[in-house]
Amino acid sequence: PVIVVDFGAQYAQLIARRVREVQVYSEVVPHTATVDEIMAKKPAAIILSGGPASAYSPDAPGMDPELAKQGVPIFGICYGFQVLAQALGGTVEATGSREYGRTEVAVASDGGILHRELPARHQVWMSHGDSVTKAPPGAAVTASSERTPVAAYENPDERYAGVQYHPEVLHSPHGQEVLRRFLRDIAGIRPEWTTASIVDEQIGRIRTQIGDGRAICGLSGGVDSAVAAALVQRAIGDRLTCVFVDHGLLRAGERAQVERDFVAATGVNLVTVDARERFLDALAGVTDPEQKRKIIGREFIRVFEQAERDLKAKGDYRFLVQGTLYPDVVESGGGAGASNIKSHHNVGGLPEDLQFELVEPLRLLFKDEVRRVGLELGLPETIVHRQPFPGPGLGIRIIGEVTHDRLETLRAADAIAREELTSAGLDRDIWQCPVVLLADVRSVGVQGDGRTYGHPVVLRPVSSEDAMTADWTRLPYDVLERISTRITNEVSEVNRVVLDVTSKPPGTIEWE
Ligand code: XMP
Repeated sequence: PVIVVDFGAQYAQLIARRVREVQVYSEVVPHTATVDEIMAKKPAAIILSGGPASAYSPDAPGMDPELAKQGVPIFGICYGFQVLAQALGGTVEATGSREYGRTEVAVASDGGILHRELPARHQVWMSHGDSVTKAPPGAAVTASSERTPVAAYENPDERYAGVQYHPEVLHSPHGQEVLRRFLRDIAGIRPEWTTASIVDEQIGRIRTQIGDGRAICGLSGGVDSAVAAALVQRAIGDRLTCVFVDHGLLRAGERAQVERDFVAATGVNLVTVDARERFLDALAGVTDPEQKRKIIGREFIRVFEQAERDLKAKGDYRFLVQGTLYPDVVESGGGAGASNIKSHHNVGGLPEDLQFELVEPLRLLFKDEVRRVGLELGLPETIVHRQPFPGPGLGIRIIGEVTHDRLETLRAADAIAREELTSAGLDRDIWQCPVVLLADVRSVGVQGDGRTYGHPVVLRPVSSEDAMTADWTRLPYDVLERISTRITNEVSEVNRVVLDVTSKPPGTIEWE
């Protein structure tokens, strides 16, 4: 792999993704990883990320100069560009000239390998206080900016290079090309990380891990568990059984999507547990959001564990499939093995005394790779490109007590909103659009000749990269109008449709 050494920037994962986008496999390690630990991964190249520290402050995380002596190609970015320069005999100084944001670089007349034939002046994204004032001996300086004379250096013979700017962000429009050239032309790495190769490799790993054992996978209806299950199904066929808990808080058509579409696409063994009554009983009289979440999580685990026991009684099910993704692995320390168990049943998390060995076939993948793998495995678009939906489902989109009738009302309104957004071609533009029923609020309306006294629903369309922050989506008025007209006409309990125009923060995406 290409190893990205994370110096504490928020960019390390992004760098790894960019490397993978040119079909080269890459992993992130913390800057505390030793040279031996890095070399144990047999790196094809090493990329040093940016970071918040100042390269010449005494407690700055440094680079072990030994790393440069391993014969592995190295690329430095921003802070990594500076520590690499230092390690190789160049100089870094606080010149007092900071650069933040969009900056223009001038490519030297000999642009070297990385910048050859790029526009003589082009935009890049900079974010640094210190600067490299002298490149390592033997390296050519191939780009500069007004305040940063050494904005890029390279030494193809010694197979190292670097840039002061951030090639991984979109504000550096040629950055991806520069990364590609480093990997291909300086490090000599061939682009072999394709979706087909990911599938093959994962199937191999799953077969090795599970041997002739049996595995259980909980399906939530979401992308991750579906793709994880589809991969394991390819690897071990009938010895996988999927469990799908219908908690009654699903949206219209979601159970069918799993029972019909997913099964048709994969041929997987599926057990559906119909627990709708049980969840409604447990939620009776409850209005507090946290309480609802706890109850739903608790019931979910109980139902799922019962399903596990039933299966164990029938066969030697020793493995549990989880849809853990790479960002979760990196964020929880990146430890190997099955140490970090995340709540990928999508609801409350797994019990502590796990009686299973975990199988996590998506552990190395980013979300966009998971989607591509899903398509490669023949899963339908509706599953692969499904927008996020919270584990507690419609239970946290009814403000007030959850009842059977209220669920029916919300399901109908939600189905209309989704239909109209889809037919307006907006699915890829929005992150998700919760529809929320204000079940304890009533307002007066008029319909035909009659007075109505119904409930409002809230449309909450948001745009986001990762759900940590979000902005409300400016949906076209005509789409909003169609949604509103249809909901108020077709869903008799709803006589008002309102739009949530709050960003996150301060609002969360969900209302509860
Ligand atoms: P909030 O409301 O915190 O939501 O802004 C952020 C994202 O997480 C989803 N969400 C959940 N997903 N279990 C989940 O699997 C949950 O309990 C849960 N709560 C919120 C939400 O839909 C949004 O995408």
